[in-house]
Amino acid sequence: MLTLSSIIETFQLKFKTSATPYLFQAPGRVNLIGEHTDYNDGFVLPTAIDRHVLVAALPRPDNSVNIYASNFDRWDRFEISPTVDHLLENTWANYIRGMSWSLLGNGHRLRGMDMTVTGNIPIGAGLSSSAAIEIAVGFAFLQVSGVEINRRLLALAAQKAENEFVGMRCGIMDQFISCLGQKDHALLIDCRELSYQRLPLPAHAAVIIVDSGVYRGLTDMAYNTRRNECETAAAHFGVKALRDVTVEQFQAQHHALLPVVARRARHVITENHRTLAAAAALKKSDVSTFGQLMTDSHRSLKEDFEVSCPELDLLVDIALNTDGVYGARLTGAGFGGCIVALADHNASQPFIRAINKHYPHKSGKTAPIYICKASQGVSPVEVLDP
Ligand code: GLA
Repeated sequence: MLTLSSIIETFQLKFKTSATPYLFQAPGRVNLIGEHTDYNDGFVLPTAIDRHVLVAALPRPDNSVNIYASNFDRWDRFEISPTVDHLLENTWANYIRGMSWSLLGNGHRLRGMDMTVTGNIPIGAGLSSSAAIEIAVGFAFLQVSGVEINRRLLALAAQKAENEFVGMRCGIMDQFISCLGQKDHALLIDCRELSYQRLPLPAHAAVIIVDSGVYRGLTDMAYNTRRNECETAAAHFGVKALRDVTVEQFQAQHHALLPVVARRARHVITENHRTLAAAAALKKSDVSTFGQLMTDSHRSLKEDFEVSCPELDLLVDIALNTDGVYGARLTGAGFGGCIVALADHNASQPFIRAINKHYPHKSGKTAPIYICKASQGVSPVEVLDP
């Protein structure tokens, strides 16, 4: 059980101190619609969730960083430096090393820190636990070093750490929403402009996340391949990114593309369209249209972008066969991980029962279920009662 007092106690025990550390939280995310569009300069519609990474930290008088990761019971130690090493083991530590490297590269003077990192975002489930580590730790570095925080720049620094230090060519969505998420809202993010609109989630609907329990090791490689295919398609249309291609242009000019590249492009181009339509539906609290667009998105991810798997398809089918579920789709990069469904509050329990009845029996796996609340982005955590 994650309580603030247990986090403080762990810090004091591990660093043999009676001082009270500063606490910071950064949330994971679930993307409601707009998948594989962020690195095509397109639109995404995620919400930050009530699952977090928590960092307890105190500055040090030198350049050393000492980290205890409670979830793994592992340590890492390094010096803040532009030439900090990348690790082959303890790979969680690369997110933290990468953040110090990236912030330093932005010209910030960082102080050394003692810190503990802990969290309750399922790891590897596609709910952005790694972005949450980057953002929580980056925020902690800047706060204890007395640097004024610009949340967009923090998100970009985290993306750079992940692209260039960790080696995953992710887009900006996960880091952006972990920085700028808003309680009770989803954000429609324009990934080219880095601008966003807050859209209230309808009070009568629940956002339900179901974890397929499938974690594929090859996700990063397949993800980078998809990115390359999208870049090939953009070059064919003579544009900077697929964001700049309309559905009509695609229909007129896709014939010269390799079929596989054409399918990838069709997903991205139609997904941008769906995401803007979903945002318009949300503004009117039109959950039926929103749900239908989610379901269409899943089909496109399955057939055109080919990032689904039988377990995710099964979960989506169970969702769509439950009365009161408006729509469902895989969320995140795909190849496993989670689905997200939008359901009437009254449908939540029947949906959970349907999952528990059909999923283990048909897939041989159990599926953890989270009914999530849209949460605030990264912030200091007030300790009222240490
Ligand atoms: C991962 C990446 C994001 C985004 C999604 C797919 O979560 O980190 O940048 O590309 O996949 O939409």
